[in-house]
Amino acid sequence: MKEADTQSPGRVEVIDHPIIRTRLSQLRDRDTDTPHFRQALHDIALLMTPAITRDLETEAVDIQTPLCRTTGHRLRRPLVLVPILRAGVGLMHGFSSILTEASIGHIGLYRDEETLQPRRYYAKFPAHLPDADTLLIDPMLATGHSSAEAAAQLKAAGATRIRFVCLIAAPQGIATFHARHPDIPIYTAHIDDGLDERAYIVPGLGDAGDRYFGTV
Ligand code: URA
Repeated sequence: MKEADTQSPGRVEVIDHPIIRTRLSQLRDRDTDTPHFRQALHDIALLMTPAITRDLETEAVDIQTPLCRTTGHRLRRPLVLVPILRAGVGLMHGFSSILTEASIGHIGLYRDEETLQPRRYYAKFPAHLPDADTLLIDPMLATGHSSAEAAAQLKAAGATRIRFVCLIAAPQGIATFHARHPDIPIYTAHIDDGLDERAYIVPGLGDAGDRYFGTV
């Protein structure tokens, strides 16, 4: 795992690992079917988790083992996962399977065809969002507009400790996101070359939601 040398005003961590690399190649391969796509995305989320969460604060808690009392640990603050609908749900499942203490919020955005700006159509966050460490999750950081808007909506709802987690980031997406939110670190498994004329990430993996949900 290394801090990426982008010109971005915020922090970008590329989480590199041999198994992440192999699973990412499976995701990119257009011949990978939906069950294997889901499994590979799940595996990557598990492998990214230690790097994303390693500095979460814990506090001491008194516990009774079968033998004696001792001191254990629990997270100091609540943890909230917020996938951006729809593709974020696919990446979120791996995180929620290991971060079992987390509550899950949702945010849905669509692109207004007149203004081309992202508009919210759904949002539901837990009441303890302002006290929580929050992972905002979307697999593809492409133009960065919807992710940046989702982060703004989270802040408006009171979130203060936000980390943005994606699978693949385009340099344009990183720049757009950090122009609005230099305070939010970005964690990604890879930074790709750029975007095509339809704003798909290249080389990318195609439409992450369609491939995860089998709606290709
Ligand atoms: N969303 C996707 O699912 N894929 C891309 O390449 C860009 C945005």
